[in-house]
Amino acid sequence: MRCYLQTFLLGMIFVFFSFLYVFNQLASTLEDRDGWRVKEHGIPGRKSHDTGHLLRKRPGLEGLRDREEGLDRCKSQSVSYWNPYWRLPADVCGVNCLLESSFSERSSSAVKAESRDERSHLAVVACGPRLEETITMLKSAVLFSKKPLHFYIFAEDELHKSFRNTLESWPWRVRARFNSTIYPITFPTENAREWKKLFKPCASQRLFLPLILKEVDSLLYVDTDIIFLQPVEDMWALLSHFNSSQLAAMAPEHEEPRIGWYNRFARHPYYGKTGINSGVMLMNMTRLREKFFKNDMTTVVLKWEEMLMPLLQKYKLNITWGDQDLLNIIFHHNPESLYVFPCQWNYRPDHCIYGSNCQQAEQEGVFILHGNRGVYHDDKQPAFRAVYEAIQKYQFGDNLETSLLGPLETSLQTTTHTYCGRASHLLTKKLKQSIMSVQQDTTRRRR
Ligand SMILES: *[C@@H]1O[C@H](CO)[C@@H](O)[C@H](O)[C@H]1NC(C)=O
Ligand SMILES: *[C@@H]1O[C@H](CO)[C@@H](O)[C@H](O)[C@H]1NC(C)=O
Ligand SMILES: *[C@@H]1O[C@H](CO)[C@@H](O)[C@H](O)[C@H]1NC(C)=O
Ligand SMILES: *[C@@H]1O[C@H](CO)[C@@H](O)[C@H](O)[C@H]1NC(C)=O
Repeated sequence: MRCYLQTFLLGMIFVFFSFLYVFNQLASTLEDRDGWRVKEHGIPGRKSHDTGHLLRKRPGLEGLRDREEGLDRCKSQSVSYWNPYWRLPADVCGVNCLLESSFSERSSSAVKAESRDERSHLAVVACGPRLEETITMLKSAVLFSKKPLHFYIFAEDELHKSFRNTLESWPWRVRARFNSTIYPITFPTENAREWKKLFKPCASQRLFLPLILKEVDSLLYVDTDIIFLQPVEDMWALLSHFNSSQLAAMAPEHEEPRIGWYNRFARHPYYGKTGINSGVMLMNMTRLREKFFKNDMTTVVLKWEEMLMPLLQKYKLNITWGDQDLLNIIFHHNPESLYVFPCQWNYRPDHCIYGSNCQQAEQEGVFILHGNRGVYHDDKQPAFRAVYEAIQKYQFGDNLETSLLGPLETSLQTTTHTYCGRASHLLTKKLKQSIMSVQQDTTRRRR
């Protein structure tokens, strides 16, 4: 009898360890897959896709193939992740994902719908001394947004660590509301060398986002000198206003043709009466990648990636503002593809420098502030600088009304010697509403 018991116990132990071994193997194959992706970090485009394909062919994953659907969440995000694994961005995961997808009851479509509906995807390109400015922009995005965010930060390699450290230093309550991926400045792997010869990497990165982030459907691109004064999801919602031919959205470069730049000086075609500004740009990249564009280089319509190089070659001697000029040329020839949103979504010194000329901001206030021409860092437009510094100095957790709005209103009072300072109630109008709304939410949650 004792002998039986011993054999039985031994048997059980053996079975237990076999199970552990098998599980471990499965888990490490998946981990491998993520490992590959991380190494691929320089080339998030097609290459990582190929890698995924290769790995899927390996016998170890054969059995997992039919779970591929369930593993959607774990799919190719090829980048440097810094969150602890339990907070990895939605589409990346290691062992925990195996657990979830094998044992959880949730259907894959439920998971998909969840991630499809909620997030706003925000991209920025930061080079040189733009770190602090970019962090302030991201801060304004998380401060007022209620829906989850995903940040795509393209930055020079030297800046990656500082971005990671700063975002990690934010309180967990704040970090729980966004995920982020940091990318190096790259060109699409195809023809990378040729691209490099023609384009300055940092300046033109945004033109390549649809080709680099091939798996991302839509994106809100903003310059580093943007401050959100309302939730990002309000801007994101404009995507659903696109008609069937629209694939990008921008604001006019000028409201007032008499001081417009393109209509007075440009030596190339531009969109509409005064051109468009690309500092705040919504893109449905799925459509952008599929579209055939009319152009003035050939009589043939061209895909986005086929068009960029010839376009630059044709116009390189005539363009002044780099890739924004190229976007103007493109949408000059394809006006039906552009959704033009009003100036309060991209409010610049031009809108108040000689008197207020952005009508929509007069009515509803400024939604998104764009401190171009370096106005956050010099004394030319103190009203813009005051908003920037108020957000920059604000510490997470402090009372928004007394620690942000109050000090801001005080410092705006010292700017009334400028036209923009006299219009400063427009800068705080929407901001006040955003702050009230966040505070109401917070008190409701406490109850
Ligand atoms: C970030 O990713 C994690 C893990 O995939 C997910 O559970 C969480 O909801 C995501 N957060 C946001 C704000 O998207
Ligand atoms: C560039 O500008 C010059 C001078 O205005 C003009 O003659 C020329 O046609 C322009 N080139 C293109 C490609 O438009
Ligand atoms: C972008 O366009 C595609 C194709 O028309 C569509 O399926 C998708 O829902 C659009 N994305 C958004 C966020 O509207
Ligand atoms: C979409 O709107 C733009 C701008 O109003 C217009 O030019 C275009 O013809 C519209 N497209 C369709 C399919 O209605």
